[in-house]
Amino acid sequence: MRYKALPQSLPERIALWSGMVPMPLVDALFPLVKTRALMAGVRLGVFEALRAGPAEAVTLAKRLGLDAESLELLLRVLTGSEYLVERKGRFGLTGTARKTLLTGSSQDSRGYVEFNYMQWQFLESLEDLLRTGRGLDFHHTMEDVKAWESYQRGMLEIARLHAPILAKRVPVPKNARRLLDIAGSHGLLGAAICRKHPPMRSTILELPRARTIAEALAREAGISDVVEYREGNILEGIPASTEAWDVALLANILHHFSPDQNLGILRKVHAGLGAGGTVAIWDIERHGEGDRPELGRDASALFFRLTSTSKCYSARDYGEWLEKAGFRSIRTVRSMLAPLHFLVHASK
Ligand SMILES: C[S@@+](CC[C@H](N)C(=O)[O-])C[C@H]1O[C@@H](n2cnc3c(N)ncnc32)[C@H](O)[C@@H]1O
Repeated sequence: MRYKALPQSLPERIALWSGMVPMPLVDALFPLVKTRALMAGVRLGVFEALRAGPAEAVTLAKRLGLDAESLELLLRVLTGSEYLVERKGRFGLTGTARKTLLTGSSQDSRGYVEFNYMQWQFLESLEDLLRTGRGLDFHHTMEDVKAWESYQRGMLEIARLHAPILAKRVPVPKNARRLLDIAGSHGLLGAAICRKHPPMRSTILELPRARTIAEALAREAGISDVVEYREGNILEGIPASTEAWDVALLANILHHFSPDQNLGILRKVHAGLGAGGTVAIWDIERHGEGDRPELGRDASALFFRLTSTSKCYSARDYGEWLEKAGFRSIRTVRSMLAPLHFLVHASK
């Protein structure tokens, strides 16, 4: 993915093309203002207030109790960012905003945008990471309950896009009844696989501090009939059970851990699965050796290093650990619908 300044007028085109513009000046301010304007728009209810139709800044400011002159500047930035359109001084939602920034919209992304207030704070530690090699461990240091809520809601919003891919591509043994969704949070991914393979049910292993919010999200998503929760820490073990697990799902969790921790987790998963059971890893793929640097994948890898002192891993990394843990039939699956992610599955 590339993400860059695009000229909108002939003078801008000439200036950019001729190299007259010092790009650090553009990159240092405009993306920040664009991002923060989006965050403010969500937090202050600007998009929701335009649901019924376009409005002038003054009217909107009165409705939301905001300063009209400042709001107009914000609305103009959001228009330049293609979330709003402006016609004769009235601002309305674009199709993108309607699809992503309203309650109940088909690709509701407000939880993720709200979590950005926390991500914004994480980024303050980037220079420390680079000096010391040590990043944060936010799953253990983040205290703010609201931040936990927006974090898990953001994960649910992403999972909505990926659930159909996993439901279709994760192999499930015949007569399977029990799926373990390790660090499953809202539970949507495991639930989608269970719905495809009834009467399988999902048990979600979650940190105690995440459980209440996660469970509320599962109720909201209408999947309480197929999921149940167990509190625990995957680094300490998988939940004890009388029957073996048929499927173990590790979605977007192994990038928070070190190679040694991941090997340890996969060994525990192997021990807990029944014969012929499946392990499925769904995560952002690390760039391959010799791959050209690329913003989407590399920004994610740097960000995970910052937030969890960890990184994204490659198919080769997962393959090695799965083999050492005793798994066989190791396969890698990629989907056009989730270009940064990949699925690695194997059986016992
Ligand atoms: C990035 S989210 C992924 C959620 C879900 N699997 C998905 O893909 O949407 C990571 C989740 O792992 C949980 N988690 C982090 N460390 C954990 C640990 N040591 N044991 C169990 N859960 C953990 C967090 O609370 C969080 O809900």
